[in-house]
Amino acid sequence: MNLLITGGAGFIGSHVVRLFVEAYPNYHVFNLDALTYAGNLQNLSDVEGKPNYTFLKGDITEAAFLEQIFRAHKFEAVIHLAAESHVDRSIAGPMAFVQTNVLGTVNLLEACRRAWAGDYAGKLFYHVSTDEVYGSLGEEGLFTEETPYDPRSPYSASKAASDHFVRAWHHTYGLPVKLSNCSNNYGPNHFPEKLIPLAIHNIKNGKPVPVYGKGENVRDWLYVLDHARAIDSIFHRGRVGETYNVGGVNEWRNLDLVELLCDVIDEKLGREPGSSRKLITFVKDRAGHDARYAIDSSKLMNELGWKPSVTFEEGLRKTVDWYLASEQWLEEVTSGHYRDYYRKQYEER
Ligand code: NAD
Ligand code: DAU
Repeated sequence: MNLLITGGAGFIGSHVVRLFVEAYPNYHVFNLDALTYAGNLQNLSDVEGKPNYTFLKGDITEAAFLEQIFRAHKFEAVIHLAAESHVDRSIAGPMAFVQTNVLGTVNLLEACRRAWAGDYAGKLFYHVSTDEVYGSLGEEGLFTEETPYDPRSPYSASKAASDHFVRAWHHTYGLPVKLSNCSNNYGPNHFPEKLIPLAIHNIKNGKPVPVYGKGENVRDWLYVLDHARAIDSIFHRGRVGETYNVGGVNEWRNLDLVELLCDVIDEKLGREPGSSRKLITFVKDRAGHDARYAIDSSKLMNELGWKPSVTFEEGLRKTVDWYLASEQWLEEVTSGHYRDYYRKQYEER
């Protein structure tokens, strides 16, 4: 099978590419990525020499380019992860999110429709999406696949739009599609603009750890490899036309999570217990900050037998170990543009 994975140089995409390249030597995996600030081929340095892997640099907003690679490589399936993914960036500049997440997704749907020309046997378009499309929960309840869409940030609105387009191409043109909506991922290769890697980086370097508002917002954290395993299960065994929610059953208040990270890093670096907690700094809240996300994954668990393979304790320790050992990766991704972003986001507000 010629399999196109988009956004494979990013955080989740790189774990998905590695899993498919290693587990399915009879597939040829093409990784299409524009290498934006979030894309980094170092994430895949162990995979780049494999005979069943090819990197294609390109932008999903360019329809003509997509047509050309579909003609050249005869893709039979697509796993679509390429996106602008950071909520704060979507607040500062929403148009890139409309371009990539909405227009880019429609371009890909059109490329599949044209290339496959109604002969859909053995074909699949798998769209990777987020729980943020469902909006924000109060203290009780979970997002199910039936929860009405209620996106509230430019990022989540763009992902919700892309989900609607994917379903529309299924209902109108019969394109075989699957979707999944996942909660917050964490793990190695996570870009340090997001809470967990940013907190680890700053705690390690003795810098202030910014917590928005009072730190009371709740997220449901899932280890990235468990998301990749869920994508594998849904891709191979999920039902066409269906949506599967993916989550960690692992809710944390931001402040509790950051305190835990301080304590884990104090222990690992031999610092006085509790000493890094003084780095926690409350800063101006995110505009329109969603209060709580929590996912009901029972459909995925009951139908496909998926469940998380690591506990949060294990996953977090592995993650901290990876960041402490990946000095060079962090150096590279936090130079240049990252410093400008950080200054605007945290120091000039
Ligand atoms: P990321 O920002 O780390 O990576 C995105 C990748 O897409 C990068 O490699 C980037 O270069 C590439 N890309 C961006 N614009 C592109 C374009 N126009 N053309 C081609 N490539 C482009 O994102 P991530 O956190 O790995 O998220 C991957 C997907 O999973 C996204 O669709 C996101 O919405 C979804 N998701 C993420 C999470 C999470 O917690 N990170 C949770 C649920 C769903
Ligand atoms: O729920 C899935 C989503 O999770 C994905 O679709 C997004 O791509 C991904 O970025 C993530 O979105 P969040 O906004 O939840 O993640 P982030 O790491 O940016 O923030 C997590 C929480 O921490 C959120 O409540 C905001 C807060 N926060 C974040 C940062 C960056 C802080 O308190 N301080 C910070 O510096």
